[in-house]
Amino acid sequence: MAIKDLHKTPFDEGTITKLEIFENYAKEWLPTFIVGGHKELWIFDFFAGTGYDINSVAGSPIRILQQVKNQSGNIFQKKTKINICFNEFDKQKFGLLQQSCNQFVNDNSELLRMNINLQFRNSDFAELFPKTLSTIRKYPSLVYLDQNGVKFLADKYIDDLEKTTTTDFLCFLSSSYVLRFGNTTAFQSNLKIDIERAKQNPYKYIHKSILEQLREKLPPNTKLSLYPFTIKKNANVYGIIFGATHPRAVDKFLKTAWKKNSLNGEANFDIDDDVNKNQLDLFEKKKLNKIESFKQNIRKEILEGNIKTNKEAYDYTLKQGHISNHATEEIEMMKKEKLIHYAEKSPLINYEQVYKNNRIINYQI
Ligand SMILES: C[S@@+](CC[C@H](N)C(=O)[O-])C[C@H]1O[C@@H](n2cnc3c(N)ncnc32)[C@H](O)[C@@H]1O
Repeated sequence: MAIKDLHKTPFDEGTITKLEIFENYAKEWLPTFIVGGHKELWIFDFFAGTGYDINSVAGSPIRILQQVKNQSGNIFQKKTKINICFNEFDKQKFGLLQQSCNQFVNDNSELLRMNINLQFRNSDFAELFPKTLSTIRKYPSLVYLDQNGVKFLADKYIDDLEKTTTTDFLCFLSSSYVLRFGNTTAFQSNLKIDIERAKQNPYKYIHKSILEQLREKLPPNTKLSLYPFTIKKNANVYGIIFGATHPRAVDKFLKTAWKKNSLNGEANFDIDDDVNKNQLDLFEKKKLNKIESFKQNIRKEILEGNIKTNKEAYDYTLKQGHISNHATEEIEMMKKEKLIHYAEKSPLINYEQVYKNNRIINYQI
């Protein structure tokens, strides 16, 4: 599988999906920390490319700058310092990257006036990353690892990111590569994945299978949560791995992912054939789609007494890769059916009530 040079061709649909997820996440991430009063933030785009594709469609660096610009009101008010590190290894692309970003800043007076520290690096990620780790650990940081292939999804980087507490990262990988090259010594010394096990599931699940194995390798007491978003492009499977230690970050990523695909929140296609499950078969019982199964499961957990509070319901919802709305709808339904009772108007399943306001309520059966 030859690695395509993204910048000499138009971005394809899958690439646009990836970029939109990257951008939409920045859109959610920035105000959280700016309005939250953090004085200094960092964004690292370690594989930044040139800024635009051949048709002037914006790549990750320009999208990041656009989102920073959109936050200018909050940034001025809170006097936040925004640091952005754009790195690109290829010399020629690096020149274009600087040119496109500087041009964008010059064309947008808000960016010129704000306290923004733009750093351009022309380094190999493997060399640059260790040098940035102390900054990543110290400040709220958003890290993009938009590599070609899979090389930089290595155990050593995951170990480093696992130890950070204020970092959210989005890592792109060509999951199909893992199937092809995963058994080679070079690959296994970088990232230990059981390829035979990953192959047991249908090919479309390869990204999800890799992620499941990565989760299992995390230390037992880890705070890091990992979530997949599979991107199919023709015959190949790619994907994003999102990682963060804070439930607020997970909440925001899941909202971004479900906004991208309201059927499953985890792929740019109908990965579980949910559309077909909606069709009633005369001879078979109706199969539940992803949202319906989640609702059935959370109902069961509540009725069996395993989930007793809004906090437990919220944590369960995030863990299952769902958004608050799905749980709220089901629990409201259970109240209507008089299966449970809670004193408030709504079941209070959201980040603000559970973690920010510490407003914990009981669901009585
Ligand atoms: C998938 S592209 C990134 C696309 C970019 N995020 C965008 O939106 O246009 C990967 C980029 O990483 C660069 N690259 C490859 N190896 C690298 C390395 N070791 N360190 C840093 N950059 C590298 C490539 O030149 C390429 O531009």
